[in-house]
Amino acid sequence: MSQPLAPDWLHEPPDANELHPALWPANVARNGAGEVEVGGVSVSQIARQVGTPVYVVDGADLDARARFVKNALTAPFVDRGMAVTCYYATKALLSADIIKRVMAHGFGADVSTMGELRWALAAGMDPHHIEFLGNNKSLPEIRAAIEAGVATIVLDSIQEIARVNDAAKTFGVTQEVTIRVNTGVHASTHEYLATAREDQKFGIARSDLDSAGEHIASASHLRLIGLHSHIGSQIFVADGFVEAAKRLLVDYARLQATHPLRMLNLGGGFGIPYTPSDPAVDLEALATELATAVVDTSQELGIELPDIAFEPGRSVVGPSGVTLYEVGTTKQVVVPSDSGDATRLYVSVDGGMSDNLRAALYHADYTAVVASRVSSESPALVRVVGKHCESGDIVVDAAYLPGDVTPGDMVMVAATGAYCHSLASNYNVVGRPALVIAQGGEIHTSLRAETLEDIMGRDVGLGLSGTPGENT
Ligand code: LLP
Repeated sequence: MSQPLAPDWLHEPPDANELHPALWPANVARNGAGEVEVGGVSVSQIARQVGTPVYVVDGADLDARARFVKNALTAPFVDRGMAVTCYYATKALLSADIIKRVMAHGFGADVSTMGELRWALAAGMDPHHIEFLGNNKSLPEIRAAIEAGVATIVLDSIQEIARVNDAAKTFGVTQEVTIRVNTGVHASTHEYLATAREDQKFGIARSDLDSAGEHIASASHLRLIGLHSHIGSQIFVADGFVEAAKRLLVDYARLQATHPLRMLNLGGGFGIPYTPSDPAVDLEALATELATAVVDTSQELGIELPDIAFEPGRSVVGPSGVTLYEVGTTKQVVVPSDSGDATRLYVSVDGGMSDNLRAALYHADYTAVVASRVSSESPALVRVVGKHCESGDIVVDAAYLPGDVTPGDMVMVAATGAYCHSLASNYNVVGRPALVIAQGGEIHTSLRAETLEDIMGRDVGLGLSGTPGENT
């Protein structure tokens, strides 16, 4: 029976129990009883140990992915005589365990706030492998980054040049900086995820670069070592990256006359599949295309090959994470349409937009399965929704789950490793879920669940907390 409420991209699966191999971490599989295990731990065991909702990272999958991404982005450039630095974009997901794991695979860290900086340092990241960026860094943030000895600060405005210079002077150091350039490249992604169109807040326009270069040249404590571009996030094709690299190189060649430039940072933004209809990015092919373009353009411009940097986040951690929820209620909702009434099964789970904001914010699509059992019931079109007080509280807008999905079942959502925990909130005074790493038949809690005491403790009027803190 055709389902008029299903989006065009969603097809009814022959078997709603199936785990689509392109969408789930490598060590997610059903056991003999039909229950899903992550890293060898059954979902019911995880729920018993830490409750639901819970973010679960497949540890071995994360290691393999970090290794793969690092190598895919590095090899084509190294083969062509360029050095490559990879900074993991900590905004995607941050905990000591995550930092340690990506560090072990040779990643530095891209941080953009005091919080990310302090957390990465506390987790053991070498400051010389940290890059600090952001469009409105506070003075305390700039000072903390310089004092820690970060490798580079990415300048995002002309005004910032004097601020960073003054701070470097205070510490008596020369700070290496790069300039984030708004290349004007229109990346094909959601509007909120595109960061180099003209009409947005990031970077210095190409037309202002010479002026920025002059300011930096006359700043006593800054050394301009490169240019930076990040065109956006969740991008699947090479052309935007290639075009941005070409434009950057033209500016790089010109500014080299007055600055010791050696570094071209091409940002992050490599897309991952969330649904069966999303393409898979061939990262090795994309990086090869990019490396070739850098070589060709450098030759045309008559300059030496630059060192290269990347800042991937989502592609490192996104596909390794899943979220587990428990179903609380289900509801058949009749939806009138021109072609007659249709029904949609609403499946309410014990989390929602507080642990995954991406559907509400970007209309992001996801894939889900019932993880606690298999069912022979035919698939039903469902919308997985949360427990928050708004109708936009959607976790998975459209999916086919077994038609007998019922309270007590566990629902597992794919590809929630990036930008789910980091965008989580306490809406409706709901604590942020724990994040566990599953591997080798065991789980390790990386971030414990937030308690009501954590949240209510901030209310000075309740008299539960110590002294009021300060923003940084
Ligand atoms: N570099 C810069 C300067 C960035 O702003 C970002 C992401 C990255 C690197 C890493 O991009 P990635 O490789 O993770 O795509 N909350 C949105 C994504 C926002 C991306 C913010 N910047 C989402 O959930 O889709």
